[in-house]
Amino acid sequence: MIIAIDGPAAVGTGTLARGLAARFNLGHLDSGLLYRAVAARVLAGGGGGHDPDQAAGAARAVAMTELAEPALRREDVGRVASMVAVHPAVRQVLLGRQRDFARRPPAGTDGAVLDGRDIGTVVLPDADVKFFLTGSLDVRLVRRVKELRARGEPFIQARVEQDMRERDQRDRSRAAAPLAAATDAHVIDTTEIDAEAVLETACRLVRSSPRISRTKVRRKSGAPSDTAQKVRSQESP
Ligand code: C5P
Repeated sequence: MIIAIDGPAAVGTGTLARGLAARFNLGHLDSGLLYRAVAARVLAGGGGGHDPDQAAGAARAVAMTELAEPALRREDVGRVASMVAVHPAVRQVLLGRQRDFARRPPAGTDGAVLDGRDIGTVVLPDADVKFFLTGSLDVRLVRRVKELRARGEPFIQARVEQDMRERDQRDRSRAAAPLAAATDAHVIDTTEIDAEAVLETACRLVRSSPRISRTKVRRKSGAPSDTAQKVRSQESP
């Protein structure tokens, strides 16, 4: 099973992806970390993300093992990530990494879930189920601030808000793979519902998806899940 999740900054794509990965025993790739890893390399080399050749060189050098580095989560790295993400050569290199992950998910898993900005539209247009999360800027800002506090990262709220606006604008307006919902994506507005409710809604949609055969919907243990059974019995004539 392959699941694609997209949405703007701090809308909760990562939380949903982790939840679905646990429910359906899937490998998870946060594709934003790839762009962040490129940004971290560019920053380490004294760059600012505007030079396409430097950014493409950094993209080629990125290894999947770098993605666990906590410093990639920093706000300044995220800002430069959205700058390197406009270069088609960078996207081309990272496209291969993302498709490889989906083609060969980690051993022992039953598939992959990827989250990002262009997963359903460009990276995995044939994904079995696609989600596109939306959420008001205010709500997303509150979530991001909570995240930064929890990590103990110093921040200025007005700056975080401005950064988020600029990043969303850059992600939506770039020529190469802009942030957009795939026409066959389930759009979930997260403005008024919490992460748990988003996950439950998404699980229901996965289980009822015509692309997912019933035998594919299993718990980690391999036993069909209770909810899957419920859906099945409700569907039975
Ligand atoms: O999701 P995250 O905030 O970690 O992503 C950082 C930046 O990487 C985004 O603002 C976006 O510009 C870029 N990105 C992208 N395509 C993806 C994932 C992330 O362009 N699939």
